[in-house]
Amino acid sequence: MTSNLSRVLVLGGTGKTGSRVATALRRRDLSPAVASRRGPVRFDWADRSTWEPALAGNEAVYVVDSQGPDASAEVGDFAAAAARARVRRLVLLSGRPYGEIAGDGWLATEKAIQASSLDWTILRPTWFAQNFTELPEFFGTLWSGAGELRMPTGEGRDAFIDLEDLADVAATALTEEGHAGRTYVLSGARSLSLGQAVAEIAEASGRPLRFVPVTEDAYRAELIAAGHPDPFVDGLIELFRHIREERGAEPVDGVREVLGRAPRDFTDYVTRTDFSAV
Ligand SMILES: NC(=O)c1ccc[n+]([C@@H]2O[C@H](COP(=O)([O-])OP(=O)(O)OC[C@H]3O[C@@H](n4cnc5c(N)ncnc54)[C@H](OP(=O)(O)O)[C@@H]3O)[C@@H](O)[C@H]2O)c1
Repeated sequence: MTSNLSRVLVLGGTGKTGSRVATALRRRDLSPAVASRRGPVRFDWADRSTWEPALAGNEAVYVVDSQGPDASAEVGDFAAAAARARVRRLVLLSGRPYGEIAGDGWLATEKAIQASSLDWTILRPTWFAQNFTELPEFFGTLWSGAGELRMPTGEGRDAFIDLEDLADVAATALTEEGHAGRTYVLSGARSLSLGQAVAEIAEASGRPLRFVPVTEDAYRAELIAAGHPDPFVDGLIELFRHIREERGAEPVDGVREVLGRAPRDFTDYVTRTDFSAV
């Protein structure tokens, strides 16, 4: 398909997905506006005076919401502001497990985008492969010391999505025709448990890393002892339950649907990633 939109605003542009979406757009010879509270283009969900200047002149927006309690209302208001700024297309980062089972919170943000007058595309990725290295608040502290990843996920598997694939999908949906009104569920090519994933990482990196399945109670006690607040710990336990219950274990076709090729394998992520810090 031909590229028809070229001026793209990337919210969360310094984050795990946004930075890669911006890179994927640059590979298309575009110059995306990279926005966040501390990014080159200032954008703050909590400061609406930043919205209009960030939107000005752009035709498409990659939307990473605030994850706060008002996220869906903010996204709805942002979509209206985008329409006023003559933006034509919004691509929302949602999530596979959340959208399907977590009730109104996550779905409300999707609904807010769907209710807008703009063309929209929703991306529902499963767990990011890059969580192993780029999600310090979830994994980082637990990797440290003994090289153990202690999680209440049991033998549960997930079809981890490589964010390079997500970025290619987002860049395509942002710039090409044919994706309006579509919701793409995105996963990697193969399901693996945390234990299998850590074993691959250990082998490729030559580091003595290992996965230790723990009960939810033990996990809770460890995180509380490490100083994490109760609501944060509750949220993590709920999220990890999704993996234990294999809510995102079935590989799906979203990457192929958009890109016409298979998703990258988890091994691709492992072999090109530096694990020396974990
Ligand atoms: N991790 C997973 O496995 C997974 C799976 C499916 C879906 N998701 C979804 O992915 C989303 C997170 O995306 P990500 O991982 O790409 O982001 P991220 O790495 O967590 O980074 C967050 C980005 O948003 C910016 N940001 C934070 N608060 C902001 C605010 N109030 N206003 C404006 N910008 C703000 C940050 O930059 P500044 O700090 O400079 O503002 C940064 O660029 C979440 O909604 C999560 O539900 C995650």
